[in-house]
Amino acid sequence: MTRTLLYTPVSLFFWKCVPAFRRSLFPYPAILVLLCCVCGVQASTAQGQDAHIAYDADTRIFRIDAANTSYVLGINDQGQAQTLYWGSRLPESDHFPAAKAMPGMASFDPPITTTPEEFVGWGGGLAVEPSLKITFPDSTRDLTLKYVSHAIHGNQLAIRMKDIARGVYVTLQYEADGETGILRRSAEVENRTDAPFTIEQVSAASWNLPRGTDYRLRYLTGRWAGEWNVQEQPINPGKTILESRRGTTGAQNNPWFAIDRQGDSDPEHGGVWFGALAWSGSWQISIEQDMLRQVRVNGGPNSFDFAYRLQKGEHFQTPYFYAGYSNEGIGGASRLLHRFEIGSLLPHAPEPKLRPVLYNSWEATEFRVNEAGQMELAEKAAGIGAERFVMDDGWFGQRNSDHAGLGDWYVNPQKFPHGLKPVIDKVHALGMDFGLWVEPEMVNPDSDLYRAHPDWVLNFPGRPRTEGRNQLVLNLARADVRAYVSAFLDKLLTENDIAFLKWDYNRNWSEPGWPEVAAEDQKKVYVDFIRNYYAILAELRARHPAVEIESCSGGGSRVDLGVMHLTDEVWPSDNTDAYDRLLIQNGFTYAYTPEVMMSWVTDSPTWVNQRTLSLEYRFLSSMQGSLGIGANLSKWTPQELATASKMISQYKAIRETVQRGALYRIISPEHESEQSVTESVARDGHEAVVFGFLHSSRELYPFPRVYLRGLDAGATYQITAMDGQLAADTLTKASGTYWMEHGVDLELRGDFQAAAFTLKRTATKPAQP
Ligand code: GLA
Repeated sequence: MTRTLLYTPVSLFFWKCVPAFRRSLFPYPAILVLLCCVCGVQASTAQGQDAHIAYDADTRIFRIDAANTSYVLGINDQGQAQTLYWGSRLPESDHFPAAKAMPGMASFDPPITTTPEEFVGWGGGLAVEPSLKITFPDSTRDLTLKYVSHAIHGNQLAIRMKDIARGVYVTLQYEADGETGILRRSAEVENRTDAPFTIEQVSAASWNLPRGTDYRLRYLTGRWAGEWNVQEQPINPGKTILESRRGTTGAQNNPWFAIDRQGDSDPEHGGVWFGALAWSGSWQISIEQDMLRQVRVNGGPNSFDFAYRLQKGEHFQTPYFYAGYSNEGIGGASRLLHRFEIGSLLPHAPEPKLRPVLYNSWEATEFRVNEAGQMELAEKAAGIGAERFVMDDGWFGQRNSDHAGLGDWYVNPQKFPHGLKPVIDKVHALGMDFGLWVEPEMVNPDSDLYRAHPDWVLNFPGRPRTEGRNQLVLNLARADVRAYVSAFLDKLLTENDIAFLKWDYNRNWSEPGWPEVAAEDQKKVYVDFIRNYYAILAELRARHPAVEIESCSGGGSRVDLGVMHLTDEVWPSDNTDAYDRLLIQNGFTYAYTPEVMMSWVTDSPTWVNQRTLSLEYRFLSSMQGSLGIGANLSKWTPQELATASKMISQYKAIRETVQRGALYRIISPEHESEQSVTESVARDGHEAVVFGFLHSSRELYPFPRVYLRGLDAGATYQITAMDGQLAADTLTKASGTYWMEHGVDLELRGDFQAAAFTLKRTATKPAQP
């Protein structure tokens, strides 16, 4: 996010660091304006670096312009915040008339239901999805929010709303990213009544699209070892709910959506509205087409089994819901998200470190890790060019299988009689850094931790405790559990020279009871657990700033913008079959950047499908993301090791382009396609890297011609095959226009074939006469 703000350090300090001060200002807009003037803030118009927020006091219209996007909302004649426009950037000379609430639809749909509001309470006859539903102690369940005041600070806008009668305040928060136009929205609910009330449903934001009948929804579905399937369906009247009720993000739906117009089959063309929720707990996104064919998207923590009692004086901050608009099709939407993640969201944004080539021991040894075996693998890994060596599960407690040991975070003395130091020293001596697997939120009943603290898990007293992979979920919402997890991780990182943690999470919740707190507060577990999870990650990062963390959840069950803000990479799937991975990686990149997409080369035939694939094919598939090796290198032949070594050094030469570049899906592997081709173009345009894959040749048909995208039309590019064959008559040098319009032919024939090539810019555009 753009951070250049126009206010002085004093006002910046109070605005950013003292929320109570910020909140207390809101009911008094006159004082705010005065203070802002004193402090040098422009109250009505302010400029972020590339984002601009303006308020027109005559029409009560807010206009957010950032990158190629404009977002316009107004306070209408009913005092509601009403969406007016969301799309391509408009000229500043276009002025919107004041917002007017929509008329109702007969007696059945009052104006509150027909008006596209930015955030609407459940009350006054609302029939569409509410943004906020509250039950008061006197059983009143009616909430009507109206505008009170607002503040603009650089690229941030806050709109303060209040219930017409009770002291319920909601602040709608907006922050615009100047580079991508992506808006970050959230809401803060504050209880200024004189008693507690219960939030039963709350959204971070409602997003309203232009009215239309021809929308198409894309979303992601999956399951263990089969994550990241892209689904497409027309948006019809009614509602589609994407959600997780699992306590965590889940793979069954991922909290991302994209909406475009049906019939736009060119992935690089047309308007796309897209968004992603930054929440790693149970979540919900509803996509609703109402009775007037207005499409609304609502998202936040899942309201299923949810209740959050807010005490007098307390406030509830929702997670962030990010959304943006691209007029370059679904490809453009993905690229904006990738850019945003790298430039604003990842822990070291805007310059996260390039991902090192990693080796992981899991598929080689499973739980059979020991000092000698790990040292041998480390030697092999270093020999082929790995930069990080990660020891996976099995190194701690009595962890000889998945039946025991989780929770006991001491080094297993039989496997590592001298502790971890000799292995870590060896790894360092080989020129790599060292990483370790942990699963901090879980416990095996067969563990010292569970024997000592059986009350530490999520449970309903007297009810069964359902196990998944022989383990139970620790209740991280509890202060003592949070302290335990935080302390053991801190100790591990303090006592050992560890550069990387693979943080795993291998089951969903069951029996989500928290018996130690009042009955009315037990369902807070859905929020407090995740807040503590985030807090532990943040504390750990602050105490050990050099340590990098991967989010893994039996594969890709915990990937979302919330966890990505606190981790450096993610594990998309336990499915490491290089052919299956093409589809998995394709779906993943709709929402998330290839930079964080860890992808291992593993042994063949794979455990997944018993499919045999060449080493080159496996490498090229993994090289589309952040490359890792997860094979048993002790069994590789010298020739295989030599091939690996060659391909790892090729990857190092192109990794910046793959990890940071602009991704084009030239041929998508979706819809049972026989081929798959991706292209990554370096940010500065000096290079493009293309990967092509063939499932099986048929009837002598050649591989379809590959038309490049995103090149500098007038520049000259030299083509070089990295692996596989280009057609014999391929020019060695040609213009960007040639490669984009004429294309490139790959000589791919047979089954499971792959090729890759680079295009390198040799000369820039000739000067215009
Ligand atoms: C999960 C992970 C795997 C591996 C195992 C270890 O399944 O996804 O990569 O770490 O746990 O138990």
